[in-house]
Amino acid sequence: MEQYVIKGGTPLVGEVEISGAKNAALAILAAAIMTDETVTIENLPNVRDINVLLDAMEGIGANIERIDTHRVKINGSMIHDLTVAYEYIKKIRASYYLLGALLGKYRRAEVALPGGCDIGSRPIDLHLKGFRALGAKVDIQHGLITASADKLIGSHIYLDKVSVGATINIMMAASMAEGKTIIENAAKEPHVVDVANFLNSMGANIRGAGTDVIRIVGVSRLHRTEYSIIPDQIEAGTFMFAAAATKGDVTVKNVIPKHLEATTAKLLEIGCEVEELDDAVRVVASKPLCHTQVTTLPYPGFPTDMQPQMSAVLAISGGTSTVTESIFENRFKYVDELTRMGAQIKVESNIAIITGVGGYMGARVSAPDLRAGAALVIAGLAADGITTVDDIYYIERGYEEFETKLSELGAQIEKVSSEKELQKFKLKIS
Ligand code: UD1
Repeated sequence: MEQYVIKGGTPLVGEVEISGAKNAALAILAAAIMTDETVTIENLPNVRDINVLLDAMEGIGANIERIDTHRVKINGSMIHDLTVAYEYIKKIRASYYLLGALLGKYRRAEVALPGGCDIGSRPIDLHLKGFRALGAKVDIQHGLITASADKLIGSHIYLDKVSVGATINIMMAASMAEGKTIIENAAKEPHVVDVANFLNSMGANIRGAGTDVIRIVGVSRLHRTEYSIIPDQIEAGTFMFAAAATKGDVTVKNVIPKHLEATTAKLLEIGCEVEELDDAVRVVASKPLCHTQVTTLPYPGFPTDMQPQMSAVLAISGGTSTVTESIFENRFKYVDELTRMGAQIKVESNIAIITGVGGYMGARVSAPDLRAGAALVIAGLAADGITTVDDIYYIERGYEEFETKLSELGAQIEKVSSEKELQKFKLKIS
């Protein structure tokens, strides 16, 4: 079992290059099969979730050619199977994007119903409501969702809740429906815009992505394209909080600073200096950090995917902070782990009340999910002594070469897979 072992206490200093956005890439890869022509995708993050989705796509007959670690060619002309097995969906929920992509292109898709998830119940009723509004018949039997239609007809769809997944899935299917679709109360996340730009580069007609009303005029076919994925705002924000927690000075490169505004605002509030450059941000934490209040919200609000990392910083910042989670119901699983490292956090319903302590003590902890895992690494980097983080496969779902990028900033972190390697690390740093 692989673990991260971290000797904390070294300020992170230097520059780090951010990878392509995982959540944009997952939807873009799925959408790439909507044409029979070859699509080239660049700036693909080399993380586990992406590789699982590519396997799922190969499983239904798509031709996947890896040009190198960050570029792939996809050809969906040989797809012979419209059923995506549970084997993939249980590893990665976002394979449900194949539902919208296959339904749009072939008017039929069968995808296993995503199971329970570690950050709370995550229904997909809005995705299905959208497909039904486009004229598809949607059935759920024996854990399999079947969506099919003779014709998909554009429609007016109001999303009761702002949902990234539903917005993207409906946008994909509607791109190849007959006539005009309007999605109201759409998600505005940067990756929704990236997927719309990608589909438009294939010949789709989507307007308004990035606002809460998206208008789509369906087209009968999509064509080849070459497309480069936007930088990952959550990976970037994670390094920004790691810089803050370790009292460091880090320039996070290959980012779109506008996408990071909510994170930047919170770092400024707690006492960091943040300098915005053209495609980079520099975070300097030279003064003691202080408390703040934060509530997670859909973009442009503070992202739920940054909530655990922010809490990891607030737990060692002066005063009492509150963190309100308004998107997912079970996103405080890391609190017990941070408590084992000395944090003082009380969770009441969807609010974490954090009383800042002087610092963390190294401990053995386990990553409960992807972003919570990143938060524990941040705590370990700031801690006094040695921290080991178990279950790092969660972290590897979404962070490319996390330990290498951190080491290049001066962190003392290694991935180990045996007690012997752990002891070797301890000897090396003593
Ligand atoms: C995506 C991101 C995830 C991020 C989340 C919120 C991907 C692959 N994942 O997840 O990292 O944390 O956005 O920014 O991009 N909801 C319903 N019914 C639905 C769909 C959603 O009630 O049919 C609810 C959810 O339970 C949640 C809220 O809507 O409370 C937002 O979820 P949504 O934006 O759909 O999240 P995901 O797309 O699953």
